[in-house]
Formats: sequence, structure tokens, C-alpha cells
Amino acid sequence: MRIEDKKVLGALRELGVELKSDASLTVITYLGIGGTTDLLRLTRHESIPEVVKLLESNGVPFKFLGGGSNLLVADNVRPWVVMQLTQPDPDVVIEGNIATVDAAADLGKTVTLCAKHDLGGMEGLIGVPGTVGGALRMNAGAYGIQIGNYVREVKVYRGGARIIETLKGDQISFEYRHTSFAPDDMMLAVKLELPSKPFREILQGIRICNEKRRASQPLGQKSAGCIFKNPPGASAGRMIDELGLKGLSVGDARVSDRHANFFVNAGKASAKDMLALIADVRERVHQAYGFELENEVVVWNA
Ligand code: EPU
Repeated sequence: MRIEDKKVLGALRELGVELKSDASLTVITYLGIGGTTDLLRLTRHESIPEVVKLLESNGVPFKFLGGGSNLLVADNVRPWVVMQLTQPDPDVVIEGNIATVDAAADLGKTVTLCAKHDLGGMEGLIGVPGTVGGALRMNAGAYGIQIGNYVREVKVYRGGARIIETLKGDQISFEYRHTSFAPDDMMLAVKLELPSKPFREILQGIRICNEKRRASQPLGQKSAGCIFKNPPGASAGRMIDELGLKGLSVGDARVSDRHANFFVNAGKASAKDMLALIADVRERVHQAYGFELENEVVVWNA
């Protein structure tokens, strides 16, 4: 969607919003799939309620975008604009065992920076792509840890009440790849309380996780990480693999040869291709195992 009303454009400028017209979501998302729309880059958290009010009063639908690492967006011109936070400098401030991190901070860099301050716990998250805000919303996890374990406080824009709120960790529920945040909440910042550990020890943990990941996941290829959540007590990747579906393709959307729960864009895959592949694999797993696999990837199909 393109914002053309000069009054709205002027008001956005006054609110410190940087507008990129016709931004390609193919470039922004890790899957390399998606149509085009206007991208609104926000520099100040405090401006969000006003920006939302401006868009709503002018009939401009919008969505909040994190880092785009776990997202599948439909093709062609999208009927909404996207808002994304810019990264402040610094985006991580460390005091004692508390790291205060902006939602736009890169997750991997945050893990490394905390390690340099002898703060560990998040070693397993090192190779998870995306922002800290995205990891928080999904309660990202790997190798036995999940980010929710370390959350003490979250600053969030509440889409329902249209206000910025600070929540204590115990006011939020963190489950497997799920949190109690509403779909229209936008993560702004988080305070993580991390255990003290010597840098060398953390580094060793990071190396081990990196090696495991390199050995089992298609890291150099365009993907959104795991497509499906694991059903309780089972592995989606193993089930898809056991059905012999590695390499199954629709257009350039393809089940990875390395890890069957990663679907890669092997060229110019469209969202239509990827959605058809997801539906096909879900159906085959359902037929064979009776599990209705649930998406882990977030789909913006409207
Ligand atoms: N397996 C196969 N074939 C495959 C893939 C896996 O047989 O193609 C087997 C493995 O050999 C292993 C079992 O299935 O015995 C589990 O595989 P893996 O250790 O790779 O873990 P996973 O359950 O597939 C989960 C997370 C990953 C995370 C890893 C490591 C989900 C959906 N996936 O994968 O997270 O990196 O554990 O902790 O929870 C993500 O969320 O996007 C993601 C990639």
C-alpha cells in the first residue's frame, strides 16, 4: 500500500518517521519472499501511539515487523503498510546482571555482547536469526534454553489499549514458541537477568551450539527456520524426513535436504509456492501420523 496523502506524509515526517516507498519484502524477509509496501521506520518508541492514531484516522492499515526472520509474506502489492523500529545506539546497556536491550537489537550480537560482560545463559540462541523483539514475542528457543527464562521486564506497545506499558516477567506467560502477548502488541525493549559465567566458558558453549547447528541446518540458504512447531513429544523434522519428503518442491520452494522442517527458497519462490508446499507437507504428515502440524512461521497472507 502506498501512502500518497501529503498531509499524512508531512505528519509522519514530524513524528520522526522515515518512509521507504514501495519497499520490497523479498529483500527484507529471510525467506526472500513477499510483495511490496510502504515501510515506516520509527526512531522513537514514544511516537508509536501517535503514529498509530494518524494511520487509523486516515484509514491506513498497518502491521508491525520485527527482523523478518520467521515470516512468510504474500506476493504482490500488500494492502497494508509495515512499521519497524530502527536500532538505537547503543541498543544494549549492561548493569550488573541486567542487560537492557532494545527490541530492534540483533539477537546473536546481543548474546555475544552479554558474553563479553561475563553474562551467559543464552548460548543456545546464538544462531537464531532475527531481533531480540522477535525472539521475545515467539519465546525463541534452542538447545534446551528459551529467551523467556531470562525476562525480568518488557516494555511493550499494547495494540488493544494503544498505550506503552512496562510488564514484569511474571505478568507474561512464556510457553513453547508462544507468549501471552496479543498479535497487535509490539515489543519495544526488554530487561534480561542473566547468570554470571566466565567469558571462556560461554564461548565454549556458543561454539558447541554453532557446530550442532551447522551440522544439522541449512544455514547458507534462504529460510524462515523451522516451518512447523514440534507437536508434544514428537519432532516435525523427523516425521517429514521419515516420509521421504526432503527435496519435495513446489516451484522454487523446497523441503531442505539437510533438515526436513526447514523449507528453503531455492531461487525465486513465490509465497503461493511456499504456502502450497506447507499445505502439502501438513496433509501428508496428518495422513501418516495423525498430527495436525501447527505453523511456527508467521504468515501474512492478507
Ligand atoms: N531429524 C531427522 N531428520 C531431519 C531433522 C531432524 O531425523 O531432517 C531428527 C534429528 O536427528 C533429531 C530430531 O529429529 O533426532 C530432532 O531434530 P533437531 O535436534 O534438529 O531438533 P528439532 O526438534 O528439529 C528444534 C527447534 C529448532 C532448534 C533445534 C535445536 C522447533 C520447531 N525446532 O528443532 O528451532 O534450533 O531444536 O534446539 O522447535 C526454529 O524454531 O526455527 C528452530 C530451527
